[in-house]
Amino acid sequence: MPPYAFFRGQFMPLAEAKIGILTHALHYGTACFDGIRGNWNSEQEQLFLFRVRDHYERMHQGCRILKIKPPYSVDKMCQLTVEAVEKSGYLEDVYIRPLAYKSSEAIGVRLHGLEDDFFIIVATLAAYLDVEKGVRCCTSSWRRIDDTMIPARGKITGIYVNSALAKTEANERGFDEAILLTHDGHVSEGSGENIFLVVGDKLVTPPSSDNILMGITRDTVIQLARKELDVETVERSVDRSELYIAEEVFFTGTAAHVSPIVEIDERPIGDGGIGKVTGQLQSLYFDIIKGKNPKYLDWCTPAYSKPAKARRS
Ligand SMILES: Cc1ncc(COP(=O)(O)O)c(C=O)c1O
Repeated sequence: MPPYAFFRGQFMPLAEAKIGILTHALHYGTACFDGIRGNWNSEQEQLFLFRVRDHYERMHQGCRILKIKPPYSVDKMCQLTVEAVEKSGYLEDVYIRPLAYKSSEAIGVRLHGLEDDFFIIVATLAAYLDVEKGVRCCTSSWRRIDDTMIPARGKITGIYVNSALAKTEANERGFDEAILLTHDGHVSEGSGENIFLVVGDKLVTPPSSDNILMGITRDTVIQLARKELDVETVERSVDRSELYIAEEVFFTGTAAHVSPIVEIDERPIGDGGIGKVTGQLQSLYFDIIKGKNPKYLDWCTPAYSKPAKARRS
């Protein structure tokens, strides 16, 4: 099955979806996007899309910031996503990339007086970070872009140059991932993940005012910790040195899932393995995203109207 796209009002193989080289968003980063996972449940032969509505609500907020008029409602985008996934027919985890962008083929940096468009791509995604072995991180020499420069809460494509600089620097220095600090030296987030610390009997995570993307996995983990483990999360600014002395540190993200951080700046975190709370949250989370926990089925949208294999035969 080729990867599928919804582009200019119709479904088509991804290879046929093309934009012109003058497209505004390509030149000026004037687009906002999201990343949604479809998680394959082999017993039910079903792909469950995780918190798809929340992703599109966030994308609509990003569109407001960028003065993009979304061509469809949140509900319609959810419906188009289910259709795009169903047409693709994957029997494995998928990654869905919707993107709303300034589509005019025009030179001139601005947000006003331009046309907008929207597409959805359905593809697969190789393992992003090692959720079993854990992740080795460095503190980036690049600072997280501030809300007064480009608002991080918007998932705006142009911001991801900041993330790309940090990720490549980390990888070229032999680390798996970067942790970015704010301009005033507080911990913000990874290049594509939110970050949590286990401190005593609580979770600690940077607040929205420290230039983070308000992650949907972050919110999932906050809710699971409270409801399932009776662990509260404190949202507050975090100093860099707190990372080194935390009992556990982990990343959250749609691509990264719940990824234990085992080393930061060449210092082991805890005993250098996967911490107890991180492990508990990981196993709750992996069951839930595959639609295996009846309590959280509201978060899971089935993509296939019938079991996938039966549908294809
Ligand atoms: C910079 C950044 N922070 C955090 C996240 C995690 O957000 P979510 O859990 O909604 O995927 C992402 C991924 O989308 C990201 O790109």
